[in-house]
Amino acid sequence: MAVLENLTSQEAIDLENKYGAHNYHPLPVVLSKGEGVYVWDVEGKKYYDFLSAYSAVNQGHCHPKIVDAMVNQARRLSLTSRAFYNDVLGKYEQFATNYFGYDKLLPMNTGAEAVETALKLCRKWAYEVKGINENEAEIIVCENNFHGRTTTIISFSNDPIARKNFGPYTAGFIKIEYDNLKALEEALSSNKNVAGFLVEPIQGEAGVYVPSEGYLTKARALCEKYNVLFIADEVQTGIARTGRLLAIDHEEIKADILILGKALSGGAYPVSAVLANDNIMNVIKPGNHGSTFGGNPIAAAVAIAALEVVKEEELAKNASELGELFRSEISKFVETSSIVNAVRGKGLLNAILINDTEESDTAWNICLALRDNGLLAKPTHGNIIRFAPPLVMSKEQLLDCVSIIIKTLKQFEK
Ligand SMILES: Cc1ncc(COP(=O)(O)O)c(C=O)c1O
Repeated sequence: MAVLENLTSQEAIDLENKYGAHNYHPLPVVLSKGEGVYVWDVEGKKYYDFLSAYSAVNQGHCHPKIVDAMVNQARRLSLTSRAFYNDVLGKYEQFATNYFGYDKLLPMNTGAEAVETALKLCRKWAYEVKGINENEAEIIVCENNFHGRTTTIISFSNDPIARKNFGPYTAGFIKIEYDNLKALEEALSSNKNVAGFLVEPIQGEAGVYVPSEGYLTKARALCEKYNVLFIADEVQTGIARTGRLLAIDHEEIKADILILGKALSGGAYPVSAVLANDNIMNVIKPGNHGSTFGGNPIAAAVAIAALEVVKEEELAKNASELGELFRSEISKFVETSSIVNAVRGKGLLNAILINDTEESDTAWNICLALRDNGLLAKPTHGNIIRFAPPLVMSKEQLLDCVSIIIKTLKQFEK
């Protein structure tokens, strides 16, 4: 068999099962094409993508401007490593720092790498600027966080599946309850070695938990009071997903360290970044940190195009308007439903809570039925289904999706 011969869905699934590590549990659907809000499986069936590769494909599948930027750059120069300069990285850094309002950007590839970068930056700042004794810095994190899957990041996760049998774990983290300012102030006031507070403005993987209004503003103020860096992980919530460019923009605050990934490339290429001002970023010196692919010319060209699309197509505004519509339509259904308990979210990052136990497979079965009805989504945890379509969706398409979702949920009414 030729390696790239067309496969049926079952053949593709069998190959992954036999030759790939089983580190994911995908919904059984095999995709071979995408355009805008749609994806097609290998048999030619069309679906609405209601996950957007975990909020990476905010600009829609195969956005022509992003693809052009990628292909044109790939034809000219793909990789130099940072051993040499390239003629795109500086332009991208200038563009992105102006776009987000920071002095400097440190380019990486994946979200987890960017989180690692932020943690290293925060620790180095703590020793060299704040004056904490070496090896004593602590970073406050939240329960039920999701920041990626490196050994250090899982060290401060409380998800047993992500952690078990991967120890020994990295020290230097204090875990507090999310959306609890009292716990934050207690941790800050009782420990003089706190360097940073790492937080997701909305906890995405945990099940789209939106904190109380004002939480982030007050947390930011507490960080200032105790001279601690406020580190926003906007890998999932950033780049217009929640109806503003960044989720922290809803509270008009700025992070000391901003972490971006996913939609920074529109899902076309792995691109992540850490942004900070000079008083923080200047602690990083040659040799302290890096990556062969971080800041490569393709990534730089793709990220400029992806960020331009967000502004040109007013994706934040669209996410905000469609998000309101989505929640109001689904809320009406929830009022009379016995299968859904609630809908929550911001912009086009939403979730519904299925009326069953966390251990039940009802949410999974609903996602299988959604697939059969032409819409792809996946449970986050147990009985929670996340809904995060590409932000290029039209109102008509969204209403079509709402009717697919409601029709499907009705099949499961008790
Ligand atoms: C908030 C947050 N941080 C970090 C990550 C890790 O990103 P990646 O999967 O690109 O390593 C994710 C991924 O879902 C995320 O949601």
